[in-house]
Amino acid sequence: MKVLIVGSGGREHAIAWKVAESPRVDKIYCAPGNAGIAEYAECVDIGAMEFDRLADFAQEMGIDLTIIGMDDPLVGGVVDVFEARGLRVFGPRKNAAILEGSKAFSKDLMKKYDIPTAAYENFDDPEKALAYLETANFPIVLKADGLALGKGVLICNTPEEAREGVKTIMLDKKFGAAGNQMVIEEFMTGREVSVLSFVDGKTIRIMTSAQDHKRALDGDQGLNTGGMGTFSPSPFYTDEIDTFCKEYIYQRTVDAMAAEGRPFKGIIFFGLMLTEKGPKVLEYNARFGDPEAQVVLPRMKNDIIDVMEACVDGTLENVELEFEDNAVVCVVLASDGYPVKYEKGFEIHGLEKFKGLEGYHVFHAGSKFSADGKIVTNGGRVLGVTATGKDLKAARANAYEAVKWIDFENKYCRGDIGKAIDEV
Ligand code: AMP
Ligand code: GLY
Repeated sequence: MKVLIVGSGGREHAIAWKVAESPRVDKIYCAPGNAGIAEYAECVDIGAMEFDRLADFAQEMGIDLTIIGMDDPLVGGVVDVFEARGLRVFGPRKNAAILEGSKAFSKDLMKKYDIPTAAYENFDDPEKALAYLETANFPIVLKADGLALGKGVLICNTPEEAREGVKTIMLDKKFGAAGNQMVIEEFMTGREVSVLSFVDGKTIRIMTSAQDHKRALDGDQGLNTGGMGTFSPSPFYTDEIDTFCKEYIYQRTVDAMAAEGRPFKGIIFFGLMLTEKGPKVLEYNARFGDPEAQVVLPRMKNDIIDVMEACVDGTLENVELEFEDNAVVCVVLASDGYPVKYEKGFEIHGLEKFKGLEGYHVFHAGSKFSADGKIVTNGGRVLGVTATGKDLKAARANAYEAVKWIDFENKYCRGDIGKAIDEV
């Protein structure tokens, strides 16, 4: 069969690699793709938000399944455009992708269906938000309602900071229309875990757990980023926590969406915080995590096409997911200065060492071919160097060894990805 993948990051590279493993797949296209994805897929120059061009391409090429990797097109309704033309597509429709697209929607859903999350209020009027802050406890968390590249969350320690935050989100519109509404919620503490799942509208199958490192610098210091590295499984995600989440969070979310007339098909990513009072939902995403996909997919034994088709067809109850009894660590190599200001266009050396090497991957996030055919840096996050090991310590040692194989000017990475695992 022929598959089209929509997206251009490390997550889509991991998806493309996994799809390429399926014996059912003869040809993969990726729109727009990147220099790493080009190893598995023919990259086509169509942007992820050009829905009609994407659907035209799928029709013309006789694509059997399109996989949407990114949040923006999902929230924008790309799946509805494909379905209206009778094209098979993996991902939630617009009315279900709102689970990620509106934090106010997701908070109200959790409240209505009794799914554990932080206490909150929604606001569409900045004056009311400011008045609410008068009697609030601090720290407090402000969230722009819509998609904001993971940057629309402000943790405010004082009333002054929070007032400034309301202005930033709702009046200055730093995150654009995402700030037309805002959630103000209770500050929680605890470890964060990412749990990804496949959903077919009614049945949910949980993948293995992972943990991201969002801050730019070692020791979780510095600015928030798109993710500086991940590991899987999370040793903090115990059987007891899994049992709790299965009872109170996962299926309840799927049932809630169905009950609202918004059946969810695709990936639900549960961003959980393990608080003293039990696991609570920090956020939902409607797609694979990036860089969570890079550590979860290499551990998955199933043919990803079988699982995705079961989601599309509503037959996921017949599928059991299986994962290797091992661990994977992904260290993101970034351009120094990310996420603020950085240079691009530097040649990347050492990629050939990963070719055909069992247990190692280099997933491209921001790379491209230069005019003379070299692979050069083309973003803040450039590569995700990923390695397998029998346990997390071994995987981490392997990943940091492989980090040394790659060289480019201004290469930067955190030195402590997965270090917290030494505590358990
Ligand atoms: P979100 O995009 O909602 O996942 O938020 C981004 C990050 O902000 C999370 O990964 C947490 O580190 C932090 N965060 C979000 N909500 C809260 C909260 N209620 N309490 C503490 N930290 C939070
Ligand atoms: N790694 C966090 C995300 O994909 O949203």
